[in-house]
Amino acid sequence: MRGYSSTWPTEEMRVLASNQRLGDNFIFVAADLFPPPSSAVASSVKHMAEEAVLGFLEKNEEIKDSGEFAVEKGISHEEIVNVIKSLNGARFVDAQDIKRERWQLTAEGKTYAANGSPEFQLFMAVPPEGISRVELQKKLGDSIFKIGCQQAIKNKWVEMGKLQVSRKVAHVDDSVKDMLVKINNGQALNQEDIDALKRRKLISPQIWKGYSVKKGPNYAPKRKKLATDLTRENLQSGEWKELQFKEYNFLAKGFPVDGGHLHPLLKVRRQMQMIFLQMGFEEMPTNNYVESSFWNFDALFQPQQHPARDSHDTFFLKEPSTTKMLPEDYVERVKQIHESGGHGSRGYGYDWKREEANKNLLRTHTTAVSSRMLYALAKKPFEAKRYYSIDRVFRNEAVDRTHLAEFHQIEGLICDRGLSLGDLQGVLHDFFSRLGMSKLRFKPAYNPYTEPSMEIFGYHEGLKKWVEVGNSGMFRPEMLLPMGLPEDVTVIAWGLSLERPTMILYGIDNIRDLFGHKVDLGLIKSNPICRIGL
Ligand code: PHE
Repeated sequence: MRGYSSTWPTEEMRVLASNQRLGDNFIFVAADLFPPPSSAVASSVKHMAEEAVLGFLEKNEEIKDSGEFAVEKGISHEEIVNVIKSLNGARFVDAQDIKRERWQLTAEGKTYAANGSPEFQLFMAVPPEGISRVELQKKLGDSIFKIGCQQAIKNKWVEMGKLQVSRKVAHVDDSVKDMLVKINNGQALNQEDIDALKRRKLISPQIWKGYSVKKGPNYAPKRKKLATDLTRENLQSGEWKELQFKEYNFLAKGFPVDGGHLHPLLKVRRQMQMIFLQMGFEEMPTNNYVESSFWNFDALFQPQQHPARDSHDTFFLKEPSTTKMLPEDYVERVKQIHESGGHGSRGYGYDWKREEANKNLLRTHTTAVSSRMLYALAKKPFEAKRYYSIDRVFRNEAVDRTHLAEFHQIEGLICDRGLSLGDLQGVLHDFFSRLGMSKLRFKPAYNPYTEPSMEIFGYHEGLKKWVEVGNSGMFRPEMLLPMGLPEDVTVIAWGLSLERPTMILYGIDNIRDLFGHKVDLGLIKSNPICRIGL
């Protein structure tokens, strides 16, 4: 009973999944709502920083460099920058970006700044009378020895014999260490030295960002706290006349709207619904998950020994375990057709049991509803119909990444005089091309209730391959004639799952990420709109 209800976990789908932008999760952390107690301190630092900037500009033309300014005032640069940004926003000041490439020590650079460069360490380890290579290497360790040798030879500090190492000069300076220390203190070096350190990967660039600041059009030595609300109190007191109101910031991001969100399955379901409605189909009432075996199986000419009717495949109900009412005359005709046939059929030739038909179950397909609808149709003077449904069905299957014990089935049927297999193929082409699949292939299949039956394969342009998309067929006369439909009426029908196209469209490769208690709420809140067939 797997067929099209399964989905394929393919590499392509994983790629699709990772390309999908799922949007931001808006999660509020308690700290956002309840600022920590140190906020009073933070706000006074902010106040100080603001006073410093505005106060300085009162007497001076410009703050040339926010970095130097921060050092002078003994306030952190970060704080100064925050204040500048806020004052700039209110046009109290005009701020210009300054970007500087600064150098910082790499991990290796830091150890040399602390312990001396390898070449210096090596030189110092060579006594005036010389030392054997082996011993020197032991003293320094492999890496310092190796780097130290290279550099010390280049500097002509030492003589490397085959076995022996000796000094070539009496005294050396560790200029590399000195340069590293300078960089660490923010002092400037000439380009040649910078290049040398860069080549040895002892320093790496760091972009420093700051501002130069001048008075802005709204400059004032003090910023008044702007009112954000016109209140009853300030109206009564007349204070509103003096208040300065904060301007609307139309560029500010809005508060994330929270409300209902449509699950991807619902979005795809809606699109499917629209396709059926455009094709002139009416919706069948599928609001009963519990069904009798009679409508789910017997009416569909599915023999009582059929393996799908086993509890391994179907969920049977304990309470109420049986149905109360079935249309008796029709039941009799169904029994007949199963046992001994009729209308040119031989039937199955077995002893049909009413108890088996009475058993309640969770419907295994929405075709149970189709059988009820066709029976109801047969009771009235014949009228051609196009019916569809999209609803949940249940199968007792092992759960894995592509199967759950329930899924949504999409079903369509057309009931009219003289419909042929060509009509079915034509309608399927119409239906699936509206889903964006215009290439279809059919494979003969078997259903107890359809003859002929066809599996439907569609070429998926995105995945660049043929995928099984549904099951279809023409309902058997053994199903339709006992209902009382006219002899020349045929019914063409097809079914597919809602989960499979949804998983492809949304790039989800594990059904448990789509449905059930493990689903990420973020996905449900921020999944994109569904645009089928585009
Ligand atoms: N009931 C079938 C299934 O569950 C689908 C189907 C519907 C097949 C109508 C043929 C016709 O797989």
